Amino acid sequence: MIIQSSIQAVMDAARVEDVVGDYVNLTRRGVNLTGLCPFHDEKTPSFVVSPSKNYYKCFGCGRGGDPIRFIMEHEHISYPEAIRFLAQKYNIELKETENTEEEKEKKLITDSLYIVNEFAKEYFKDKLFNDEEGRSIGLSYFKERGLRNATIEKFQLGYALNDRDSFTKTALLKKYNIDHLHKLGLTNQSDYDFFRQRVMFSIHNLSGKIVGFAGRILNNQLKTAKYINSPESDIYNKSEILYGLYFAKEAIRKQNECILVEGYLDVISLHQSGIENVVATSGTSLTQKQLQLIKRFTPNIKILYDGDAAGIKAALRGLDMVLEADMNVKLVLLPDGHDPDSFLANQGSDKFTEFITNNEEDFIFFKTRILIDETANDPIKKSIAIRDIVDSISKIPDTFKRSLYIRQCSTILELDEQILITETNKTIRSKSKNKRLEKQEEVPELPVNEDEWLKPKLIQRSDEPNIVQNDAWIERAVCSILINFADKIYDESNRTTIAGFVVAETTELLDFFDIDLYREIILLTKEAIDSGIIPDSKWYISHTDEKIAGFAVNAVSSPYIYASWEKKQMYLQTQKMPNENYIRDVDNAIQRLILKKSTKYIGQLEEYFTSVTEDDKQSEEYTLNIKVYQELIKRRNELAVNLGTVTLL
Ligand code: CTP
Ligand code: MN
Repeated sequence: MIIQSSIQAVMDAARVEDVVGDYVNLTRRGVNLTGLCPFHDEKTPSFVVSPSKNYYKCFGCGRGGDPIRFIMEHEHISYPEAIRFLAQKYNIELKETENTEEEKEKKLITDSLYIVNEFAKEYFKDKLFNDEEGRSIGLSYFKERGLRNATIEKFQLGYALNDRDSFTKTALLKKYNIDHLHKLGLTNQSDYDFFRQRVMFSIHNLSGKIVGFAGRILNNQLKTAKYINSPESDIYNKSEILYGLYFAKEAIRKQNECILVEGYLDVISLHQSGIENVVATSGTSLTQKQLQLIKRFTPNIKILYDGDAAGIKAALRGLDMVLEADMNVKLVLLPDGHDPDSFLANQGSDKFTEFITNNEEDFIFFKTRILIDETANDPIKKSIAIRDIVDSISKIPDTFKRSLYIRQCSTILELDEQILITETNKTIRSKSKNKRLEKQEEVPELPVNEDEWLKPKLIQRSDEPNIVQNDAWIERAVCSILINFADKIYDESNRTTIAGFVVAETTELLDFFDIDLYREIILLTKEAIDSGIIPDSKWYISHTDEKIAGFAVNAVSSPYIYASWEKKQMYLQTQKMPNENYIRDVDNAIQRLILKKSTKYIGQLEEYFTSVTEDDKQSEEYTLNIKVYQELIKRRNELAVNLGTVTLL
């Protein structure tokens, strides 16, 4: 592990304008810099870099963070990898702690597993090219399927002999550990080879290491599965691997599209013909994790499936998940009986490309068409189908996209557009209500950037997330002020900071917080202060917890969020910039928080009073609660008068 002071040295050195500037052409605009967002496709800049606070934020796609997060997102690497990356850029020498014994052990095992797989790959490759059986059966098969030597080598294909244990014997002779062979599934429990008489496909992770193998049987007479795969292991989690992604990732990013197919050979032969942005799910259905993996490179997916019933079913199954992930899905059904590999062989790559361009269909329309064809003239079936379609459309997070789909689908369905709109909105409302109840955290997002602070029109949002059901808005306001002004002085006489003040005022109320994230922010602040750190905005923005860093970026890039309870226009026109008002604002927010929370506490006490028995009334607890109650009522009334909220009395 990299030691904290080294991480700190990197954080101190990494200037956001400098780090981002390596990738994005930035121009100055007021105190900030702007440019075209590198994370989504745009023509006018909505990507803002703040040198003073050392963060970036895109008001288009919502991504934001400190320089380290930028590198993590842009290079698709982990936190420690990003630290190393930046250390190199700034010539900082990193000091590392010794790993614990347990960590060392674990690392040793996974390292050895990769080494064993590497050996196996070399073994299978050697048999393919140099063994007589391998050449005459395996290599000639690959040749028959049109693969060139360079392709075979690139994808690290191989051949497993028709023999009981020649691989295992060789491995043991070379002193590879039998436990590792078992763990990887290369050798079965009777110590025989798992893969026999098959052509072999290496399966790589994102960094190109081999996590497992697939073997395809060639002898059609044999009654075993056409393909068999390595089992899951410490290094192979099937739901997190996409076949071919390691070879495809650059092309996916460049072309901003990922083609999804089913088979190993589909990937390889498309790749060989120059279509490199292809990955396969290897016969299983697409998982959420695989989608997120693709999303790191592009939001656009094109699915190529067989035109048979099974292909169509498989296509529909993945749909809603992809929509929810806010990705765009196109579908191409290949002529019946063809998979991408056979169709490519049949048509050649130009015709193939032409076909998939001319025949791509948006997933929603595809679904609509398929479902409506099935219902014929049955009105009941039709209404069920419409439900189904509405349900899919309502999962699209983007409002604009949604309305486009609604318009088109209403045409396909021969249905009044307004009906679809109403139905979709109903579904969304009932869903978001459920979500609000189950998901507590609400990260606000306002399309505001600093230069536009003084233009009230951008800040009036009628669709401001409605979270009045609980106290989220006031908890959020307090945290937002806290993050914006944590290190500013609240009280000159004793040098209390805003952070110190907020912590002192809220500690006793934390049990009454509705939102875990906000409670956690205050707890972390308290811990930091207790350990001698003076947190400032940068401290929150650089927090390793993504939720906290994300909230912090939003808070500093849209400071008016916290003022959402104000009559916004009046506030903006008559008040100064928020950073000149923070003392008044923090007082105001804290008072409102206390008011809210004491009202809650009062409610609980009143409930208690109605439930006590005569005996209880003799108890100390009761007397104490009475005192607390009277005190709370008094404080609440004072506060309410102060804040002018007489309605509560
Ligand atoms: N598959 C699998 N196990 C099986 C069958 C299929 O893992 N028993 C996966 C493989 O990734 C395979 C894909 O599902 O590539 C599609 O299967 P299929 O259409 O049967 O094979 P093809 O890919 O067409 O294989 P080939 O072209 O080599 O016949
Ligand atoms: Mn095939």
